[in-house]
Amino acid sequence: MGGLSMDQSFVQAPEHRPKPTVTEAAGIPLIDLAPLASGDAAAVDALAAEVGAASRDWGFFLVVGHGVPAGTVARATEAQRAFFALPAERKAAVRRSEAEPLGYYESEHTKNVRDWKEVFDLVAREPPPPAAVAAGEVVYENKWPEDLPGFREALEEYMNALEELAFKLLELLARSLNLRPDRLHGFFEHPTTFFRLNHYPPCPSPDLALGVGRHKDPGALTILYQDDVGGLDVRRRSDGEWARVKFVPDSFIINVGDTVQVWSNDRYESAEHRVSVNREKARFSMPYFFNPATDAVVEPLEELVGEEDPPRYSAYSWGDFFRTKLSGNYKKLEVENLQI
Ligand code: SIN
Ligand code: FE2
Repeated sequence: MGGLSMDQSFVQAPEHRPKPTVTEAAGIPLIDLAPLASGDAAAVDALAAEVGAASRDWGFFLVVGHGVPAGTVARATEAQRAFFALPAERKAAVRRSEAEPLGYYESEHTKNVRDWKEVFDLVAREPPPPAAVAAGEVVYENKWPEDLPGFREALEEYMNALEELAFKLLELLARSLNLRPDRLHGFFEHPTTFFRLNHYPPCPSPDLALGVGRHKDPGALTILYQDDVGGLDVRRRSDGEWARVKFVPDSFIINVGDTVQVWSNDRYESAEHRVSVNREKARFSMPYFFNPATDAVVEPLEELVGEEDPPRYSAYSWGDFFRTKLSGNYKKLEVENLQI
């Protein structure tokens, strides 16, 4: 299935291969956001404190009670499965290219090693921000497969629901840093948020390959939906070991990205993660990457630096970074201390 065949391009260096047994990331906080709806100030403060502690200790947490309707998630996952089940030539019809970096791709690499997966990428908002287009050579338009009824509607519905959740999380994050609740909103007026469908087919050599190699997410927040197969491993802060994020029905997995690390001047750190694959089962996941606007300048927030706590990063332009990354040239822009 999926048309991938195992060759050298997928083989991880020995030190990065998954071990045969992996422990569960047992302590990852599971946060119930339902009290948010009450608007009760004490309840909101308590949630912000939970989000803050999870971001500090893990860089990862799970949420339930998030307000995204189960039907919205179900329609998106059905659309995802229907797309990847299409014959290769129909997927190739919406294949991405250097000039048009959105759409289907079966040859994603992380740190120069090929990932055992196929993907479909979208921007969450169209038309894309003018500054991105002004870059000239690259077209950020979603490609929609033909004759796949309901696909576009299901994914647009899902992305709209996720945007609402993303802003709720952003507000909790700001509160947790003792900032005004809307302090970070201005960075997202024309967000470069994008959305990815992942399909990891069963792999004949799950001891050699990874579904996604080790990496950190560069944006602000990632909101991931995963099915019950499991495979997402996070590098645990406490001992540096890889630990498996368990499947919790109806939850989303949230992780803070490098942008939050920089804003918070290292109060919160983006955690390294990867995806392990297995011999028996295909896995499907859907990460939503909540990213700032192209004109956002990312630097430690002035409220969080001072004489005692000088800025640990120099300012960089999210737009330059994003264009460089999406156009596939990961090395052009070097951001001090950040690992892509
Ligand atoms: C990713 O980190 O890009 C994918 C995560 C997943 O599929 O679980
Ligand atoms: Fe990631």
